[in-house]
Amino acid sequence: MTSSQTPAATIGPVICVVGARPNFMKMAPILRAFAAHEPPIAALLVHTGQHYDHGMSHQLFEDLRLPTPDINLEVGSGSHAVQTAEVMRRFEPVIDEHRPSCVLVVGDVNSTLACALVASKKAVPVVHVEAGLRSYDRRMPEEINRVLTDQLADRLYTTERSAAANLQREGIAESRVCFSGNVMIDSLLDSRERARSAADTLRLHELDPALLLHPRGYAVVTMHRPSNVDDAAVLGDLLQTLDTVSRQLPLVFAMHPRTRANIERHGLRDRLDPSRVAVLPPQGYLEMVGLMAGATLVLTDSGGLQEETTALGVPCLTMRENTERPITVEQGTNTMVGRDRTAILDGVADILGGRGKRGRVPEFWDGHAAPRIAADLWDWLRAGAH
Ligand code: UD1
Repeated sequence: MTSSQTPAATIGPVICVVGARPNFMKMAPILRAFAAHEPPIAALLVHTGQHYDHGMSHQLFEDLRLPTPDINLEVGSGSHAVQTAEVMRRFEPVIDEHRPSCVLVVGDVNSTLACALVASKKAVPVVHVEAGLRSYDRRMPEEINRVLTDQLADRLYTTERSAAANLQREGIAESRVCFSGNVMIDSLLDSRERARSAADTLRLHELDPALLLHPRGYAVVTMHRPSNVDDAAVLGDLLQTLDTVSRQLPLVFAMHPRTRANIERHGLRDRLDPSRVAVLPPQGYLEMVGLMAGATLVLTDSGGLQEETTALGVPCLTMRENTERPITVEQGTNTMVGRDRTAILDGVADILGGRGKRGRVPEFWDGHAAPRIAADLWDWLRAGAH
């Protein structure tokens, strides 16, 4: 130990924050890496309760072998302002009570920004995992969360090299940024062997797995972005396009509660023919990995699925105009098709015609991102450089 190092015993716990579904697969390997680190890094798991349904939260904790949260803030749903404010209000006393060495947040959901803001105002260092991703589309709530969280963060871990350039453009010192690779892929590789087969998943929901035996296989669909599902006309058009796709190969549609509610509200249920489209509730992680791994293609507007399909080598068509994860397009299997019917159908035709992207797995998407973060964070905390 050099004289400038903080003694290990005096380093407080790392408060690790999760709130919504895409956070859980990022945090699980980090907590395991903290426990495996020599010496172990003490952690306190806080769930804000932004997602609370069994399928959106509890099931994933089991699948990912996440420990029960030490603290659940139970904020639930609300407008962005209400949800963010409620997380902040309930998170502040947690910091006061536990005196953490830092607060570690992942991804870009409302809970990420809310907790980063509380910590930074209390002079507690903020650590952001999955920093520097930019869609450059401020109409996305996640983009606002990403930009602001990165401004507040003291230590920033990136998943792809393009992120460092984005951060530099925003005036964030290079010395605060560390390229660690993608923790989400740590979870994916850790879970592959335990993944449930697609046929078993359909059986579990009392749907006929024969649907999957189509000569062209099947496509997995997920869709929940407000820009795709909140407007009745946009949602109706997308469902119409999905119906056309389902005439070429069957679809397994894992439906987010927001999407389901809007389909019901706007009376659009009959746009999807149940003989060609299996509609499932939000899926557990092991089900989702199994569904994706066996699919001919994935149609999605999710951020995480763009990365997971790239790691699995499964072609992905992303129903968005832009992506904050450009490496999935440049090196992986991802193609941006927006909401345009022709672009989506052309994308499907390319894949079915054998012209889909094969891609390669990006640098440091190797299952070891979390141990790299643990090692760096420990050194950083001990150096007390923040
Ligand atoms: C949030 C994230 C988004 C992420 C997505 C994954 C933000 C800004 N967005 O969006 O980046 O891709 O999670 O799912 O944080 N609901 C339930 N049960 C739940 C949770 C939500 O029924 O457990 C319903 C509620 O009606 C709620 C709506 O879904 O109002 C939206 O939930 P919310 O957490 O506000 O945002 P998501 O759309 O899930």
